[in-house]
Amino acid sequence: MSLDGKVAIITGASRGIGKAIAHSFCQAGAHIMICSRATNSINQIADALTNQGYKAFATQADVSSRPDVETLVEKTLSEFGKIDILINNAGITRDTLLMRMKDEDWNAVIQTNLTGAAYCTRAVIRPMIRQKNGCIINISSIVGIVGNAGQANYAAAKAGMVGLTKSVAKEVANRGIRVNAIAPGFITTDMTAEFSEENRKKILDLIPMKSFGSVEDVAEVSKFLASSCAQYITGQVIQVDGGMGM
Ligand SMILES: NC(=O)c1ccc[n+]([C@@H]2O[C@H](COP(=O)([O-])OP(=O)(O)OC[C@H]3O[C@@H](n4cnc5c(N)ncnc54)[C@H](OP(=O)(O)O)[C@@H]3O)[C@@H](O)[C@H]2O)c1
Repeated sequence: MSLDGKVAIITGASRGIGKAIAHSFCQAGAHIMICSRATNSINQIADALTNQGYKAFATQADVSSRPDVETLVEKTLSEFGKIDILINNAGITRDTLLMRMKDEDWNAVIQTNLTGAAYCTRAVIRPMIRQKNGCIINISSIVGIVGNAGQANYAAAKAGMVGLTKSVAKEVANRGIRVNAIAPGFITTDMTAEFSEENRKKILDLIPMKSFGSVEDVAEVSKFLASSCAQYITGQVIQVDGGMGM
């Protein structure tokens, strides 16, 4: 699967799934712009990729801030002249039961995970329409499909991403732009590292394949969806979850 010469923005690429997508896209020939809120690790990742001969730039950007998103897109256009792929991957959790959830925890998760994806999508659509070509991939979650106690804010945001994916896919399909989502199950990253052993065992009981996924499992499906192999696929949600959501 080649992404030769394609330009991709990957949000939340300083670690975990976003970082794996950045590596996998570079190896497939893409030129990338990566972002996160903190600057140190995102700059180190871009520098390491550049030293390996890839074209990779980093920008500090908080996807929940519209001005930051606009700057991210402007910088990408001025660096590369086009945007072929957007990966809406940046995400946070603020877990607790809904009855105890503070407004700020509800709002932070919706603003980052859902509104941030909408801001980034809206900002790339015009250049993609001009190019008559584009691909947007939203990293949702299996939790947005099946729900999860203690994650009402996160599940609502991730379910919202599914609606966002299908609606925008319908809006731009005739402009040559495809919009799809990936719904990972439990993937080994910093986000899942905090689980207690007891919680981990409970989750494994729910996964038919009896293991957590890897960041590469999600990166490979992202690469497939971004490539010409998926040129007739739009408005879909691909579950990468070891069978958890079937
Ligand atoms: N791990 C899983 O099991 C799993 C399962 C299903 C779905 N997902 C989804 O997959 C995505 C990546 O998850 P992960 O496990 O790789 O998470 P992670 O290890 O916590 O990494 C999250 C990334 O997003 C960035 N980020 C957070 N808020 C941001 C913001 N407002 N603006 C820009 N960047 C921001 C973080 O960097 P900074 O903190 O520096 O901003 C970091 O680079 C998330 O959307 C998550 O919901 C994960």
